[in-house]
Amino acid sequence: MRPIVDQEMIDAAVHSLQNEKLVMGESVLKFEEEFARYCSTRYAVSTGSGTAALQIALQSIGIRPNDEVLTTPFSFFATSNAVIHAGGEPRFADVEDDGFNLDPAKTAEKITSRTRAVIPVHLYGEPARMDEFLDLARDKGLSIIEDACQAHGAEYKGKKVGSFGDIACFSFYSSKNMTVGGDGGMLVTNTEEIADAARSFRDCGRASKYTMSRVGYTSRLNTVNAAIGRVQLKRLESWNKARRGLANLYRRTLQGTKGVALPPDEADNKSPVYHLFVVRSDQRDQLADHIEKNGVEAAIHYPVPIHLQAPYVAKYGYSKGMFPVSERLAGQVLSLPIHPAMTEEELRTVSSLVRESTAG
Ligand SMILES: Cc1ncc(COP(=O)(O)O)c(C=O)c1O
Repeated sequence: MRPIVDQEMIDAAVHSLQNEKLVMGESVLKFEEEFARYCSTRYAVSTGSGTAALQIALQSIGIRPNDEVLTTPFSFFATSNAVIHAGGEPRFADVEDDGFNLDPAKTAEKITSRTRAVIPVHLYGEPARMDEFLDLARDKGLSIIEDACQAHGAEYKGKKVGSFGDIACFSFYSSKNMTVGGDGGMLVTNTEEIADAARSFRDCGRASKYTMSRVGYTSRLNTVNAAIGRVQLKRLESWNKARRGLANLYRRTLQGTKGVALPPDEADNKSPVYHLFVVRSDQRDQLADHIEKNGVEAAIHYPVPIHLQAPYVAKYGYSKGMFPVSERLAGQVLSLPIHPAMTEEELRTVSSLVRESTAG
């Protein structure tokens, strides 16, 4: 990753510090309006992080103790941590056999009388199968919260992710496709009551300046971060286009490499944004070693599925073998470098290293 901070962002940050309230200044309201417009939703509510957006989203739909929320064990652990923070119980279903995202059919099998919501994650910037999740939600009376923390600008059937569920959540952590120059998050929704509840939750539970309607948090986006975010948002489409171009070049230069599987082919109905370009290999560790020894950073998202993380084993008694596809992926996935400022030459160097390693 390499976050881009240009002069217009620096000027916007300085201008906001000198001219606006530091908290809940005008830039925050403008950023929310612009982000909602970008996602084609009616409302956007900024928060201190993507995790906070997920937690507040769940609390805004009234998750209560004993309510179950279904999600994927193959994600960043903040996805399911947010369910616990909100007072619910995270439950998992495995991912698709031939992809990285939560499988709608496996999710359906895990629904119980206590299930209230499903959180599909658009992992690596690849849209989840939203039509099937929406059908499931309609049939079973569940809420859908999209975890779009890795998928700003990705499209499914020609519509931006974030516009499908009851709520969608985004992260602006510095590795994401767009940032705010630090931590930050956003939730988007078309429902006024949800947006009102979320605004209250992120601001101490306020109903008005000196009255509370709920027990909330201090989880607002700083004005300076919103000012940077507004400029980042203007750049997002061109950055995503650059990521798509790089992903295509990876596909062309890595096609047919022995022992390396490329990300699933782009389906007609999906336009991913390649937050990460993830290959799979049974020799993943040797491959990672080889490219790192040659000065290229490689990362693993994620080496341990959430259900096998210590707090989840201790709290819910999960064990190996319960989600076999996620467990297999955890041993195979490798994220190759991708960011909008990466040059074609840099990418060709990475591809050569990958091919070199598997030939040996
Ligand atoms: C899939 C996913 N969900 C949730 C989060 C949490 O976002 P944050 O780090 O802003 O709290 C992240 C990113 O870090 C993420 O990648």
